Amino acid sequence: MHRRRLALGLGFCLLAGTSLSVLWVYLENWLPVSYVPYYLPCPEILPMMMALSCLCHQQHEAALQEGEATPARGHSTLSPSCWSTGEGLSAHGPPAARPTQLLTLTPWLAPIVSEGTFNPELLQHIYQPLNLTIGVTVFAVGKYTHFIQSFLESAEEFFMRGYRVHYYIFTDNPAAVPGVPLGPHRLLSSIPIQGHSHWEETSMRRMETISQHIAKRAHREVDYLFCLDVDMVFRNPWGPETLGDLVAAIHPSYYAVPRQQFPYERRRVSTAFVADSEGDFYYGGAVFGGQVARVYEFTRGCHMAILADKANGIMAAWREESHLNRHFISNKPSKVLSPEYLWDDRKPQPPSLKLIRFSTLDKDISCLRS
Ligand SMILES: *[C@@H]1O[C@H](CO)[C@@H](O)[C@H](O)[C@H]1NC(C)=O
Repeated sequence: MHRRRLALGLGFCLLAGTSLSVLWVYLENWLPVSYVPYYLPCPEILPMMMALSCLCHQQHEAALQEGEATPARGHSTLSPSCWSTGEGLSAHGPPAARPTQLLTLTPWLAPIVSEGTFNPELLQHIYQPLNLTIGVTVFAVGKYTHFIQSFLESAEEFFMRGYRVHYYIFTDNPAAVPGVPLGPHRLLSSIPIQGHSHWEETSMRRMETISQHIAKRAHREVDYLFCLDVDMVFRNPWGPETLGDLVAAIHPSYYAVPRQQFPYERRRVSTAFVADSEGDFYYGGAVFGGQVARVYEFTRGCHMAILADKANGIMAAWREESHLNRHFISNKPSKVLSPEYLWDDRKPQPPSLKLIRFSTLDKDISCLRS
């Protein structure tokens, strides 16, 4: 009798163990293919999100606000496929076939910020009493010093108005930094750096320079830090809706493109390598930021990866931007900015984009880079 019970018990344990391991193998195989539910703390949300993106011509309240997201204001006419990760979506499909609902959350539940997804008055009430200082780094080397004036003037008009702002301008020619009048509680520091004969070299050094600058002084001076390109201008308000632990911006050329077509580094030898099955959005190198400590970790990580590539004699496909994208795959941004926050004036404004806040100037790149 005792033996029979023992055998029965053992048999049961064996059965349970086997089914658990089978389940594990199944889960392991299944996760990388369809990673979306993996990030969802609550499985019921997934079918809801699917349903939302499939209902093409109905308007919905953006009900899925979480984390750093703020109450939605009204409806949106943007298409989720605009910011989608690209599964089953054609880049050249007719626009009419697209759904009209805005995707306001990433699969890992980070808010995607665009006009209509936040309430500026409410954010003002939350952030104004915190007495935050927002840092901005820009690099103006060689002929790029021409852009400082329009960058600063537009930033004074639109960037974090009413907040403490500290501009850090890295330049090889501090004398060329124009004296743009700054508002109260807004500072500017020119930081001399060595100019490099090739703009590629300067661009590859940016991550290193930013991380060193944070360690040396910015960590004491600012709460949040945005790293922006200087050859751009602000056109509409950029406020506290952009503040988050780690913030990335969707690249204006790849917001409606399947991820297999993202220009990631595809050579395995590079530390920026991204497999076809990986990737969420293609982010632009012209805008990133976050809490100063997180930006330090991020830029340091990118710099290390760039150094490793350099030691192997490899230059990633889109240099620093390739490493930035690789890093945002393993360190998911806690907030994603829609192309409103990183546009390119050479492109016509699509009707889905209501507001252009920060945009590249139409310029002759080849002449500047020579
Ligand atoms: C706000 O912060 C600045 C510097 O971070 C500090 O000098 C100032 O006293 C603070 N103001 C208030 C009201 O706390």
